[in-house]
Amino acid sequence: MTGHSAGWAASDVRTRHVLDIDGLGSAGLAAVLALAEMGPQELPRVLEGQGVALLFEKASNRTRNSSEMAAVALGGHPVYIQGDEVGIDIREPAGDVARTLACYHSVLCARVIDHETLVRMAAALDGAEVAVPVINLLSDRAHPCQALADLLTLRQVFGPTGLGDRTVAYVGDTNNVWRSLAVAASMVGMATRVASPPGYGPSAADVELVRSFGGDLTVTDDPVEAADGANAVYTDVWTSMGQEEEAEARLAAFAGYSVDESLLAAAEDAVVLHCLPAHRGEEISASVVDGPRSVVWMQAANRMHAMRGLLAWVMGVAPLAGEEDRPR
Ligand code: CP
Ligand code: NVA
Repeated sequence: MTGHSAGWAASDVRTRHVLDIDGLGSAGLAAVLALAEMGPQELPRVLEGQGVALLFEKASNRTRNSSEMAAVALGGHPVYIQGDEVGIDIREPAGDVARTLACYHSVLCARVIDHETLVRMAAALDGAEVAVPVINLLSDRAHPCQALADLLTLRQVFGPTGLGDRTVAYVGDTNNVWRSLAVAASMVGMATRVASPPGYGPSAADVELVRSFGGDLTVTDDPVEAADGANAVYTDVWTSMGQEEEAEARLAAFAGYSVDESLLAAAEDAVVLHCLPAHRGEEISASVVDGPRSVVWMQAANRMHAMRGLLAWVMGVAPLAGEEDRPR
């Protein structure tokens, strides 16, 4: 056991649901990153003997495995559950699924088709005064666990002086990954740019959301304008899970938006990020994702460290006083 504080009464602290990255607040984000950057031995085994539900309505490699191992590192017992087994809103309502899982688990993590499912699960637990936090493992709207790993990666790449004077350019679909990344980057003072074909750019509400964190956001349909002089270039699949019927139309619409060698000529010193899985020859070329500027495997590895920090934080672990304020 270290000097880090752990354990909290439901009456003391609002249940720390994490449905998107902005739900952490700036102090929470700093605390989670500080915890994520600590070795597993430095953290209290705050989940000792307790269950962690990992409910997936969609496929996963990184999220499932990083979450399982993060829970184990804190002494917890992760239980992987496929959506079909519990049948959210088919076999029983989302709220009843959540309340049932909360009888056995201290944290409820879920990857859902519809973001609203997470909202309803958290509301059902709050309404019943059950202090079990809900963590979003990806929804159609957000992917906060990925954004945490992305920030960890950017901090490792750009060093301990902070990210405030760096720019991350996202080229592609303004999906769940983009939304959480743009908000997270804005929360730590990075400038962000996004380039998407007409019809696939951010909504006015999303632009407002990102800018509400003081984010310097540039929106364009020109990938070269976005990449020009950027410190990091990020992309994700053009067709997300659940959009398979649109795949052909999206392939046509996103032609010219590939992160390839020719686009990277505009961002000579940039590192390249991708949450994975990658589709070589579509949103990213093989030579880029497998090349020297790619940090995708750092991102993948950081998923586990980010999740360990996040699980510790939702369980009430706080970094040592001032630790989250240190430049990293
Ligand atoms: N990046 C990511 O979330 O990967 P998985 O879909 O494999 O979990
Ligand atoms: N945008 C992708 C991310 C996968 C990790 C999807 O939702 O399928």
